[in-house]
Amino acid sequence: MASKTFSFIAALLFFSSLSVFAENEEADTGLLMNFYKDSCPQAEEVIKEQVMLLYKRHKNTAFSWLRNIFHDCFVESCDASLLLDSTRRILSEKEHDRSFGMRNFRYIETIKEAVERECPGVVSCADILVLSGRDGIEALGGPHIPLKTGRRDGRKIRTDILEQYLPDHNESMSVILERFSKVGIDTPGVVALLGSHSVGRTHCVKLVHRLYPEVDPSLNPTHVEHMLKKCPDPLPDPKAVQYVRNDRGTPMKLDNNYYRNILHNKGLMLVDHQLATDERTMPYVKKMAKNQDYFFQEYSRAITILTENNPLTGSKGEIRKKCNVANKLH
Ligand code: HEM
Ligand SMILES: *[C@@H]1O[C@H](CO)[C@@H](O)[C@H](O)[C@H]1NC(C)=O
Repeated sequence: MASKTFSFIAALLFFSSLSVFAENEEADTGLLMNFYKDSCPQAEEVIKEQVMLLYKRHKNTAFSWLRNIFHDCFVESCDASLLLDSTRRILSEKEHDRSFGMRNFRYIETIKEAVERECPGVVSCADILVLSGRDGIEALGGPHIPLKTGRRDGRKIRTDILEQYLPDHNESMSVILERFSKVGIDTPGVVALLGSHSVGRTHCVKLVHRLYPEVDPSLNPTHVEHMLKKCPDPLPDPKAVQYVRNDRGTPMKLDNNYYRNILHNKGLMLVDHQLATDERTMPYVKKMAKNQDYFFQEYSRAITILTENNPLTGSKGEIRKKCNVANKLH
């Protein structure tokens, strides 16, 4: 009797472990095109619809969705750790100085809520972050980029390692190229991605070091005049919203005007300026300045690599209920 019960239990354990094994095996297909085609077929459409509705009301939401891709995916993994709020003990990534100026996070929740209404608990915040970035690029006149899905959400804030990944506004080109190459993005890819600075703004706190105490002589004098008008204070109040537009020519369009600007010494940040002067990157800057199709082609390729950086898939991580907090563990 005892041995019968034992073998019954042993068999039960054996088969249940098999089925758990099979489930995990089956679940981890990695990233796929249209991962939600059975579990939430409308997911990509709902996200796009929300991105466009928000864009109509606030054009700058599209800048935010694009910048989110860099700040989430480049820091170890596209796991939506960027979206987590501070806890009592840990400062959020959003509040770190490298994230200065990032905005519109509450509207990510608007998109998430719309997706949850269709398919509760199915679509990750990491995928919503990536797809909204993709749709933002298109809203801004950039290319349409087909992207895989199936990312899951991390449970940890990664502010502790953020500086090892995200370069500062004045970082050297050697360090920047090296950091991007670690995630598989080559030099033309870096040049293309920095073309994201064709939209949006830079706050004076990140620029005054090029204006005071002396004006950086490599800046275009006509641009200096504009920058001084926008940033009259050598020590701007970090809470003040004094800023300069990244591309005065076509500030709302993701286009190759950025490359013409930086070739004319109108790059705002040191990283932008260096891109046009470093001999490793300059040839690509010149090519992208002349050829928008080439820029878009390299841009699409680099965004694809960036958004596939080290995702959590299968049964790793979780599907967050709200994007700003990890689920409670039971
Ligand atoms: C070397 C790499 C990079 C550095 C050092 C850098 C740094 C910065 C800084 C300092 C700002 C201005 C923030 C502010 O004052 O409000 C900014 C804005 C922006 N960055 Fe970058 N960035 C880099 C690469 C990227 C990449 C790869 C992307 C996108 C894939 C990106 C997208 C954006 C966008 C869209 C804005 C405008 C945001 C807005 O107006 O809300 N950046 N970046
Ligand atoms: C970059 O600028 C920051 C201030 O934003 C400054 O503290 C830092 O020393 C600068 N780094 C380099 C390499 O110049």
